[in-house]
Amino acid sequence: MKELIARLVEAYGPSGNEEQVRALIQDEIKAHVDEARVDALGNLVALLKSDPDGQGKPPTRVMVAAHMDEIGIIVTHIDEKGFLRFAPIGGLTPLTLLGNRAVFANGVMGTFGMEKREILPTEKPKLDRMFLDIGTPDKESALKLVSVGDAAAFSRGFAQAGNRLLAKAMDDRIGCAILIQVVKTLKKNPNDIYFVFTVQEEVGCRGAVTSTYGVQPDLAIAVDATDTGDTPESRPMNVTLGKGPAIKVKDAGMLAHPAVRRLLVEAAKGLGIPYQLEVLEGGPTDAMVMQTSREGVPSGVVSIPCRYVHSPSEMVDYDDVTNAVKLLTKVLEDRVAI
Ligand code: ZN
Ligand code: CO
Repeated sequence: MKELIARLVEAYGPSGNEEQVRALIQDEIKAHVDEARVDALGNLVALLKSDPDGQGKPPTRVMVAAHMDEIGIIVTHIDEKGFLRFAPIGGLTPLTLLGNRAVFANGVMGTFGMEKREILPTEKPKLDRMFLDIGTPDKESALKLVSVGDAAAFSRGFAQAGNRLLAKAMDDRIGCAILIQVVKTLKKNPNDIYFVFTVQEEVGCRGAVTSTYGVQPDLAIAVDATDTGDTPESRPMNVTLGKGPAIKVKDAGMLAHPAVRRLLVEAAKGLGIPYQLEVLEGGPTDAMVMQTSREGVPSGVVSIPCRYVHSPSEMVDYDDVTNAVKLLTKVLEDRVAI
């Protein structure tokens, strides 16, 4: 599975530019699903139909989702000397940019720089005082490579540190990798399972809005990265790397449906795998909008603990990843009823 993760995290896909990631996923899953379509916004919606149960009971429609997009930058202005100013795509922290590189869809590479004037030693860098240097001496030559509106993502290779995996875009290619692995692992299927790979999560869960409306699930589970509270002086949070997939109770965007939460907890207990309950003070996931689709969809989240989230070196524990695959496979191999 590590080889698959490496290919996914290294693919280029800032929000709105998910084509490369989608092509890769389509290729991986096509032999394992009954149908796969791309909706108007670019979400990849794949259906694995239920095995016939012989009793004529309509299968539960379960949606599992992971987002394909990653954070990045979008060019707002190119100056006379060929430096690019930019706006963030998603939650970008200026401190994570310095010393790092960004790459455009066409392979053009740049490194981040910062204005030097009037920055006090105690001052934090701000995005509007930073720029991307793509090595061009003037505006004219820069315009031959990029234009205003082009998006770039972090450029950083996949690496391993012990049992931990490091990459940009672990949020949420790790979720994509988990769903792909689940599709390949399932031995029986009493549900109609929609594997949805969404676009534009990092800019407001927009792909999940349209795909959930289209799928009309009875129950939905998002798989996404979450923060941890286990590094020096970190904000108190009850999620630790390596202590199992986290089952979301709450984040700033949702209260997980208690029945979905219970379903996940019972499955983890049944398997005897470690799990942790997650209360995140920060940001939402696709499940925020999945749960309020149409007349409401009971929704939950399997979160993968991730240190340094939204940096070029997001870190996850490989055991948490493989345990998340086991957990989701177990949930989906039983008839889902809540
Ligand atoms: Zn995410
Ligand atoms: Co994110």
